Amino acid sequence: MIEIRGLTKRYGPLTAVDNLWLTVERGDAMGFIGPNGAGKTTTIRMLATLLKPDAGTASVSGHDIQRQPDEVRGKLGYMPDFFGVYEDMMVWEYLDFFAAAHCVPRSRRPGLISDVLELTDLGHRRDDSVNSLSRGMKQRLCLAKTLVHDPDVLLLDEPASGLDPRARMEVRELLRELCKLEKTLLISSHILPELAGLCNKIAIIENGRLVTAGSVDEIQSQLQGGTKLIIRVMDGSAECCAHLAALPAITQVGETDGRIEAIYQGAAGEEWQVLRELVNSGFRVRGFTEEEIDLEGIYVRATRGLGSDG
Ligand SMILES: Nc1ncnc2c1ncn2[C@@H]1O[C@H](COP(=O)(O)OP(=O)(O)O)[C@@H](O)[C@H]1O
Ligand SMILES: [Mg+2]
Repeated sequence: MIEIRGLTKRYGPLTAVDNLWLTVERGDAMGFIGPNGAGKTTTIRMLATLLKPDAGTASVSGHDIQRQPDEVRGKLGYMPDFFGVYEDMMVWEYLDFFAAAHCVPRSRRPGLISDVLELTDLGHRRDDSVNSLSRGMKQRLCLAKTLVHDPDVLLLDEPASGLDPRARMEVRELLRELCKLEKTLLISSHILPELAGLCNKIAIIENGRLVTAGSVDEIQSQLQGGTKLIIRVMDGSAECCAHLAALPAITQVGETDGRIEAIYQGAAGEEWQVLRELVNSGFRVRGFTEEEIDLEGIYVRATRGLGSDG
């Protein structure tokens, strides 16, 4: 749905986005992660046809951002990292304005507006002034605005930044709903946990360059060189470690306070063979799990030593 090919943007001597290649497939929710100044907003604005690339190009739903900008705008919803300026409107008016801008016929607008207000849980504020909304509600309204023309692709730039924890949770719930509607999402954030449990793919960008991209577990496994297993046995942790270390599929073993961590590099989905081996060897295993995916850890490892503006 989104195909980025060698996208580059320079501001004077600064290369804000540097030969970026990235693909987002239909139905993906991709987390676009990087510290402040990494080039996320610049990339998203180029995709949204608001900024012209210096080199490379991209397509959205098969339409080239430079040769077919109108088609691209029809296919995507863009939520900028700041709230728009039309605050003296009523909520429904605000949405009607954007629907009209997207050439949604007048007769279809009331229905569409009701739908997006319901989705964003703002139905009860329909006739209130945009000004009177809380920050979290404004953020949801901003999201509602990007949905009025039923786009296939959503570009969301830091959708939960500056919100309190409760409002952040609400935005996350809403994004989850959108994933269920089979929209393709590119969501930027400089805060990792915000995207945990929401995105199936992540792309990490730093200093305008792509550090890594792929499914969350692929990247995890690539960075730590395998799957981390957490094992507990009733007794004999040290013997268990020695036993594990001798298995060809296990490349690293460590233990703290009875918690054994082993890096598994065998065939995917065959981790159970390690468990069987331990049980057959007489170890009384009481815990055997794969480590929970830790986006924050992935991020720190992926960007380690690359230097950043902090
Ligand atoms: N209009 C601009 N003029 C000059 N430099 C800019 C402009 N917009 C962004 N930059 C610079 O480009 C880099 C990338 O910015 P941005 O895309 O906003 O990063 P992010 O969204 O990841 O925080 C930063 O170093 C920023 O200072
Ligand atoms: Mg930004």
